[in-house]
Amino acid sequence: MDALKNLYTYTRKYKYELIAGIIALILTDALGLLPPWLIKLAIDYIKKADSQTHSINPLIKYSVLIVSAVGLQAVFRYYWRKHLFGISRKVEYDLRNDYFKHLQRLHWGFFQHTKTGDIMSRATNDLQAVREFLGIGSVIIVDTAVIMTTCLILMIFISPKLTGISLLPMALVSIIVLKFSREIRQRFESVQKQLSEISSMVHENIAGIRVIQAYVQEENELNRFKKLNEQLINKNLELTKISGAFFPLMVFTTGLATALVLWIGGREVIRGQLTLGSYVAFNGYLAMLTWPMAAIGFMINLSQRGIASMRRIEEIMNVKQEIYDSQQSAVSSQQSVIKGNIEIKSLTFSYTGKNNVLSDINLNIKAGSSLSLAGAVGSGKSTLVKLIMRIYDAPDNSIFINGVDIKRIPLKILRDNIGYVEQEPFLFSDTIRENIVFGVSDVTENDIEKTVIMAGLERDIEIFPHGINTVIGERGVTLSGGQKQRVAIARAIIKKPKILILDDAFSNLDASTEGRVFTNIMSSLKDMSSNSSIGDITVILISHRISTMKEADMIAVMENGRIAETGTHEELILKSGLYNRIYKKQVFSEMEIVEE
Ligand SMILES: Nc1ncnc2c1ncn2[C@@H]1O[C@H](COP(=O)(O)OP(=O)(O)OP(=O)(O)O)[C@@H](O)[C@H]1O
Ligand SMILES: [Mg+2]
Repeated sequence: MDALKNLYTYTRKYKYELIAGIIALILTDALGLLPPWLIKLAIDYIKKADSQTHSINPLIKYSVLIVSAVGLQAVFRYYWRKHLFGISRKVEYDLRNDYFKHLQRLHWGFFQHTKTGDIMSRATNDLQAVREFLGIGSVIIVDTAVIMTTCLILMIFISPKLTGISLLPMALVSIIVLKFSREIRQRFESVQKQLSEISSMVHENIAGIRVIQAYVQEENELNRFKKLNEQLINKNLELTKISGAFFPLMVFTTGLATALVLWIGGREVIRGQLTLGSYVAFNGYLAMLTWPMAAIGFMINLSQRGIASMRRIEEIMNVKQEIYDSQQSAVSSQQSVIKGNIEIKSLTFSYTGKNNVLSDINLNIKAGSSLSLAGAVGSGKSTLVKLIMRIYDAPDNSIFINGVDIKRIPLKILRDNIGYVEQEPFLFSDTIRENIVFGVSDVTENDIEKTVIMAGLERDIEIFPHGINTVIGERGVTLSGGQKQRVAIARAIIKKPKILILDDAFSNLDASTEGRVFTNIMSSLKDMSSNSSIGDITVILISHRISTMKEADMIAVMENGRIAETGTHEELILKSGLYNRIYKKQVFSEMEIVEE
C-alpha cells in the first residue's frame, strides 16, 4: 500500500495537530456515551422510587449532568473538526505544491505524451478525493473505532448475551463489505480516468477551437464530447450501484439487531433477568452503533477512492526527472558564465531509441563566431540545437563547451547562458513587456528599449493600444506570427546570453525585415561584447533563407541527420552540393519576383 504509506508521510508533518484532534474526538465520543448511562440510572431510580420516600433531586442532578455532557461535547466537537479537517486541507496544499514543483522539473518529452487535461484532472479531481479521504475518512475511522469499542464494552457489561445476539447480523455485513471494497476502488479509478479523458478533450478542443470552427467540426466535437460524458455517467452509475448499497445495508443490519434485542431483551425484562434501565441503556448504545456501522460503509467508499486517486497522483509523481545535474559538476557554483568553443563530436541521437535523427555529427563552433544551419525540413536542425540546450539529452561526451561535456555543466548555468528562440515560440497571456523580460531580474527601461529596437518591434508596439504594456491574450493570440517571433527574439537577447540560438526565428518575417532584424542583432551583439565583460557571443542560426544564412561565419548543411557540407557562403556556392542547389533556386525565384 504505497499510496497509504505516502499519505502517512504527508500527514506525519502535522502529528501534534493530529493527536490533539484525535484526543478531542475521543473526548467527544466518550461524552456521548454518558447520556444513555445517566438515563439508565434515572429510569432505575424512577422505577424504585415512590412519592413519599424519594425526592426528585437525583433527577435534577442527572439532567444537569446530561446538559453538561452535551455542552462539553459541543466544545470538543468543534476542536476535532477544526484540527482534523484542517490537516486534510494542509496535506492537500502540500501535495498540490509538490505536484506542481514536480511538473516544473519534468522534461519536454513527458509533456509530449501526457495530455494537459489529464495532468490537470489529477491535480483537481483526484486531489479532492484524497482530501476527502484524509478529512472525513480519518475522522470516521477514529470515530467508528472509539464508539464501537466503548459501546460494545458497555453493552457486554450490561448483557453479554444480548450483545452477542445483536452482533450476529453485523458479522454477516462485514463479509459483504470486504468483498465490495476492491470493486469500489476499481470502479472509482475508472471514473477518474474518464474524468481525465473529458478534461483532456475539453482542453484540446478549446485550444484548437479555431481549427474546429474553420473546418466546421463543432457538431462532431459535440458528439465526441457527448459520448465521453455518457461513458462517465455510466461509470458513475456503476460505482453508485455498489457504493449506494452500503448505507442502506448497514442501517438495515442495525435495524435487525434492534428487533432481535427488542424481542429477546424485552422477554428478559419481563422475566426480571434485566432491569428496565439496563434495557433502555442497551438500546441507546445499540442505536449509537447505527452511525458507526453506516459510517464504515462510507469510510470504505472514501478510503478506496482516496487510495485510487492517490495512486493516480503518484503515477505522475513517480515519473523520473530525466534531465538533471550531473554528480560531477565541472563548473563551480560561483561561476555563472560559460564561454568557449562549442564542440560536437561524433554525435548520434535518436528520440525513440530506434531511428537515428542525427548521425555522426562533428562540428566546432568557435567562441564568438556565428554558424548557420541549413538543410531540408526534418533534417535534424532543431534537434541539434535542442541537444545543446539539453532539452533532450545527447549521449555522454558528444557535446562540449570549452572542452567540458555539457552534461557536467549545471543546467541552470547552461540554460541561463543560452538565449533560445524556438521554432514555434510560446508567449504567455501577459503584457508584451512581461513576455520580453521573462527570466531576467535586473533589467532597466533602457535595456528594454534597446532590445525592442534590436528585435525590430518598435513600430508594432507604437500601434498597440497600450504600447509595450498591451496584454496579448493566451499564447499571444492577438499578435501576428511575425510579431510573436520578434517578441520571442527580444526575450532571448535581453538576457545577454553567451550563446544565441535562433531556430527559424524569422520564418514569419518577409525577407527584408528578416535581413534588417538579423543584421541589427549581429551588429548590436558585436557592440555589446566589445563594451562589456561578457565577451564574445556565439550565434547559431537556423534559417531557410540564403540571404540571412550567408551572413554567418560558417554554414553547415544538414541532410538526413548528417552534416553534408560545411564552409563559408563563398566556399559552398562553388561546390555543387545541396547549398549550391538551394542558392540557385532562391536566386532564381527572387529574380522571378522582381520581374513580376
Ligand atoms: N520529440 C520528437 N520525438 C520524436 N521524433 C521527433 C521529435 N522531434 C522531432 N522528431 C523527428 O526528428 C526529425 C528531425 O526533426 P527536426 O525538428 O530536428 O527537423 P528540422 O531540421 O528542424 O526541420 P524543420 O526545418 O522542419 O524545422 C524529424 O523526422 C522529426 O519527425
Ligand atoms: Mg526545426
